[in-house]
Amino acid sequence: MRSLDALILILLALCLPLTACGGGGGTTPEPDAEVIDPGEDPVDPPTDPLLDTQLQPLLQQANAAPPPPATPHSPALVSLGQALFFDKLLSGNRNISCASCHHPSAGTGDGLSVSIGEGGLGQAPFRQLADGALIPRNAPHLWNLGRQRFMFWDGRVERTPNGVLRTPEPALNGPNPAAGEIVAALPTALAAQAIFPPTSREEMRGQPGDNELADATDNLEIWRRIMVRLVGTDNGATGGLLEYQVLFQTAFPAVQQLDDFNIGHVGAAIAAFIETAFDLRNSPYDQYLQGDVTALTDDAKRGAILYFGRADCARCHGGPELTDNRFHSIGVPQVGPGRDAPLEDLGRISVTNNANDLYMFKTPHLRNTALNGPWMHSGAYTTLENAVRHYINPAQALANYDASQLDPLVVNLVDLDPARQAARAQAIGGAVRRGVNLTDAEVAQLVLFLESLTDPAALTLPGVVPATVPSGLPVGD
Ligand code: HEC
Ligand code: HEC
Repeated sequence: MRSLDALILILLALCLPLTACGGGGGTTPEPDAEVIDPGEDPVDPPTDPLLDTQLQPLLQQANAAPPPPATPHSPALVSLGQALFFDKLLSGNRNISCASCHHPSAGTGDGLSVSIGEGGLGQAPFRQLADGALIPRNAPHLWNLGRQRFMFWDGRVERTPNGVLRTPEPALNGPNPAAGEIVAALPTALAAQAIFPPTSREEMRGQPGDNELADATDNLEIWRRIMVRLVGTDNGATGGLLEYQVLFQTAFPAVQQLDDFNIGHVGAAIAAFIETAFDLRNSPYDQYLQGDVTALTDDAKRGAILYFGRADCARCHGGPELTDNRFHSIGVPQVGPGRDAPLEDLGRISVTNNANDLYMFKTPHLRNTALNGPWMHSGAYTTLENAVRHYINPAQALANYDASQLDPLVVNLVDLDPARQAARAQAIGGAVRRGVNLTDAEVAQLVLFLESLTDPAALTLPGVVPATVPSGLPVGD
């Protein structure tokens, strides 16, 4: 089924530019296309073919195309990944899972400007602080991430095209990593990323004295102790859970014995689940790319003309993936407890130590972005409209930031330090710094276009949340 979908996408992609597909595939507006079903809400039917004439060359110029197909995975691997993603057993105090902060019902984020760590209560989008700590950054979406080179807002997990990892754990890095058996099991940056949340005290691990993961002396020992919880030791004779032992063996039939499993297999399975469950690419925009000129309303097309044209959004959020996979400084207001100092987040520079990377963050791709607010690395903007308005004059948006849009949890955690604000403004990259004139109507059109990047299936995701997980720990809270 998936490979058939992929084939169709490729065939349709070959039809670009749209005009080259002739009348086939509905590219020519039908004469009766303007008839509105009186039972429908008054929608804006696509009526102006001149908009398509304007938009299509811009799309070609921007190399717009359906995203590359997701890697297919075996159902057994996906099932294991699903169990691990929702199981609080991966956290030190057994009180938080990946889904607590990346829940399907919150667009695979948590609906918060910055996340709430272990000790917090409930799952996204209803998470409460309780005894949890605020995490320094916004939880990004997990849509269509399988082929991305960089993970995290600062790209601190990276898998280069020749398969070398760069991560916060030296034992995984370089062409001959010390923990080679773990790296061998990690096929993507996404898989490598998935093994890091349990190493963060605030996110999942807990404080010294809390539990055996919190008391481990290094990452490799944390990861080994997670495997003890899952599959046990002595080839399953001691500890572990029978259900996980069976799930791991079914998912990885080539692995000889239980003691051969390591945290790399956990990462690979979680990534397989994310790549399968959260791979959604059938938005109205994607349908338009495939030749259905009626898929976008006139105003969404006007937004697209701005996005790929004068507003120059596609310079960074372009191509098939709607991201350049690079890092930029765009002057986003800093909200949250701070990562590098109180209230401060330096961005990419803390990974590379390169002065040019100050306040740079990864360009997120924008498919399904409407579902994953608040937006930006600090969750500074709580509406898409405000996120778009930022680009009119980024330096001014930074200086005149309206904190009243924030949740009370973070409203007093906006960095206003004059020196740091000046440095943030100074760092804004040239192209964005110039800003872009947008009327209120044009802002609204851009928002409509961004909303047209949502695959309706992302709203429901049936079957993605399991009823139970192997540990028996609660799933629905
Ligand atoms: C406490 C909330 C929390 C938990 C629990 C959590 N995450 Fe995250 N996740 C975040 C935040 C916040 C970030 C961004 C951190 C950064 O960029 O420094 C993030 C980043 C990510 C990213 C990077 C996405 C991108 O586009 O760069 C992935 C993938 C991810 N998390 C998957 C997971 C998985 C898998 C788990 C479980 C093993 C998990 N997360 C657990 C909050 C959480
Ligand atoms: C120079 C590159 C660049 C350009 C041009 C650009 N963006 Fe961005 N965009 C980024 C980066 C980098 C971020 C993340 C910044 C951060 O969080 O600090 C971002 C974040 C966003 C987000 C938030 C996504 C999320 O997951 O939180 C939206 C929405 C967005 N951009 C829309 C636009 C629109 C609309 C335009 C055109 C008006 C545009 N961008 C132009 C680089 C760019």
